[in-house]
Amino acid sequence: MASLVSNQAFEARAAEIIDSLTQSGQLKPFYNITSPMRPVVEIEGKGQVLVLCSNNYLGLADHPEVMEAGIQGIRDYGAGTASVRFICGTLKCHRDLEAKIAKFLGTESALTYVSCWNANEAVFPTLVDPADAILSDELNHASIIDGMRLMNKAVTKKIYRHSNMEQLEELLKETASHPVRWVITDGVFSMEGDVAKLPEMHQLCQQYNAMLIVDDSHGVGVLGKTGRGTHEHFGMEGSSVDVFTGTLGKALGGGAGGYVAASQNAISMLEQRARPSLFSNALPATVAYSAGKAIDVLDNDPGIVARLHANVKRFREGLAERGFDCTPSPTAIIPIMIGDEAEAIKKSAKLFEMGVMVIGFGFPVVPRGEARLRVQVSAALTDAHIEQALDAFAKL
Ligand SMILES: Cc1ncc(COP(=O)(O)O)c(C=O)c1O
Repeated sequence: MASLVSNQAFEARAAEIIDSLTQSGQLKPFYNITSPMRPVVEIEGKGQVLVLCSNNYLGLADHPEVMEAGIQGIRDYGAGTASVRFICGTLKCHRDLEAKIAKFLGTESALTYVSCWNANEAVFPTLVDPADAILSDELNHASIIDGMRLMNKAVTKKIYRHSNMEQLEELLKETASHPVRWVITDGVFSMEGDVAKLPEMHQLCQQYNAMLIVDDSHGVGVLGKTGRGTHEHFGMEGSSVDVFTGTLGKALGGGAGGYVAASQNAISMLEQRARPSLFSNALPATVAYSAGKAIDVLDNDPGIVARLHANVKRFREGLAERGFDCTPSPTAIIPIMIGDEAEAIKKSAKLFEMGVMVIGFGFPVVPRGEARLRVQVSAALTDAHIEQALDAFAKL
């Protein structure tokens, strides 16, 4: 029977791939966590482990008010909408959260999605016309790359070398005849932990009349005095970024969900035309409530951001004192380059034995030969946690 043969062929192929990853030491382990996400979590079969690899930058994932808001969300609206937004999936709490996001980022409007991945899959195919050109940093996040793959094939796509402003300018000159040019960048690059050169990019976009899109998933809550993100870090509040995309699954409570914040026309286009808006469920009310509360907590206590900045400084300095080569950066992402993927996974396992969770990243998350450990710092880490982590790194 054909289906049985296909089934056997697939199972054999999958088993061979998994076996080869196991043999080469590249198989990623999955740990079962049995407590809320916080600096120290319970792991099944292991006990307490210090987490240095979550995106819980502000420690809001188990903040009492953020959790309580989620519970209120389920009381007010139940488990979910069972619908996409334009059918019967738009709740008042979605609109409230979107108004809060727009105000937080200083845009006219905003629209939420179940993830930033979805937001990026919505933005590019919807806003970019076949006659347009789009210029993208080579290290942009996978969701930007995949979102761009969904654009009309006729769109002119150019990839510039990482943060290379000379090449970006060349490409802006080259694409002068296109009706709209788009420049897209991560605000904070997720695997490098460096910051996009936003002031230069803004200046170039002004000079060559191009639109600037920033995915600030790792910048919001982290950069700037009040955690607005990369633009605040550079003192660029106002209308310097045309379109933001971002996640609610990291600093802003860590639940899930993403958003686009932009002009009212851009948001209306997304509501009317974007496939994730038309064919995918709305954000659950629990997340809308808890993310909204996370923004309130952040607005009411910018001291959390100051704590995060102090922890980042302390961690980076501590690593440097122990001989680790980490490039200076204000972000909470600190990559420690290892090179070989199996070696990165081995080092991560060693840290885990010492009760510290730092994941080793290899292909396809980063290019082959550029495997690394990635430390992510949280405002919730105490001095004792940081010392414990630095001791473990010293023992590596
Ligand atoms: C820059 C960037 N964009 C988008 C995403 C995806 O976010 P989400 O988990 O909300 O889909 C991530 C997640 O790692 C990211 O780092």
